[in-house]
Amino acid sequence: MTTDIVAMLKEPQMTKICAPMVRYSKLQFRTLVRRYACDICFTPMIMANSFVQSSKARENEFTTYKEDKPLVVQFAANTVNDFVSATEMIAPYGDGVDLNCGCPQRWAMKDGYGADLLRKPELVSDLICQVRNRIPKPFAVSAKIRLLKDIRETIMLCQALEKAGASFLTIHARTPEMRNEPIELDSLKLLRDCVRLPLVANGDVKDLESARTLFRESGCEGVMSARGILNNPALFSGHSTTPLVCLQDWLDITSTVPTEFQCFHHHLVFMLEKVLPKKDRVLFNNLQNRSSVLDFLENYYDIRPGTSFNSIELTKCTFNTLHVQQREKYIHFWEDDTSSDLLGNIFSDIAS
Ligand SMILES: Cc1cc2nc3c(=O)[nH]c(=O)nc-3n(C[C@H](O)[C@H](O)[C@H](O)COP(=O)(O)O)c2cc1C
Repeated sequence: MTTDIVAMLKEPQMTKICAPMVRYSKLQFRTLVRRYACDICFTPMIMANSFVQSSKARENEFTTYKEDKPLVVQFAANTVNDFVSATEMIAPYGDGVDLNCGCPQRWAMKDGYGADLLRKPELVSDLICQVRNRIPKPFAVSAKIRLLKDIRETIMLCQALEKAGASFLTIHARTPEMRNEPIELDSLKLLRDCVRLPLVANGDVKDLESARTLFRESGCEGVMSARGILNNPALFSGHSTTPLVCLQDWLDITSTVPTEFQCFHHHLVFMLEKVLPKKDRVLFNNLQNRSSVLDFLENYYDIRPGTSFNSIELTKCTFNTLHVQQREKYIHFWEDDTSSDLLGNIFSDIAS
């Protein structure tokens, strides 16, 4: 059953959210943070067009299981067709989809994805509206944005998305040009005053205290953490650094759910960044295989993979590609048809 994320956000208490993170907010990490008071998880950004076209991409990019809820699947998309098709395919396995409107990387901007969409409010509204019209509530349709330099433009974008039927918005309170500068709290407050939609505040949540401060000062309904929760997956439950039990959980989860060495090791590197003394950290960060990592952790902390985590059954996702095939058929029909002017733009949403 779909979890109503909007209803969760409307509860008076702070909703605590794990950010979308390419390579990192995968099933294993989501399982870990859900053990430590994280209320909602986002998948990493998935390219909607590859997801729609390739079963291999679907297999690589998305895994879930029954308890991996509430889950928002984030897509990068720049056409209605890709975003709608990807959403129709994923809807049975998630509680919402999110459109990435914040990725500032050059490749994304050049191809019209991510933060490039901030300058195209009409297109973004169309993407949100078309998906909203096809997938019934309570399935959520949201966007994660950054700020534009001119706050009035950001307000207009948010108001357009509200009108288009977005369920909520996540605001990473920096412009695409900003890197590690402090977030623009005043802009966030202003946005809060100008839209009625539930908002999620994102930026610099490093511990529970900073999450609570951001929640209180911004007036937003939810808070989202990325780098903070990578460094300390237990941050939302009040731990100031990664507790030993969280490392133990990671060993247990990754010994049950097949996990590539890089993913297994990188997460530990993040979790131990603020815990290990420098010389040990250098040694740990250079380990090259799972058994040397396990030996290190056993010698250092006296922990080893155990049985605290019951084996899980991954959901067998059977993605329905029927809608996509039908839409493609219509597009071909449209492109081949010489009398298209007579037909008007019945299929204009499909072909755009
Ligand atoms: C490793 C990494 C991967 C990220 N991947 C994504 C992504 O897939 N989609 C997205 O919208 N933002 C992504 N971001 C941005 C974060 O979601 C977040 O907006 C940003 O890091 C600011 O939050 P923070 O101060 O808590 O780190 C990523 C950030 C990091 C550090």
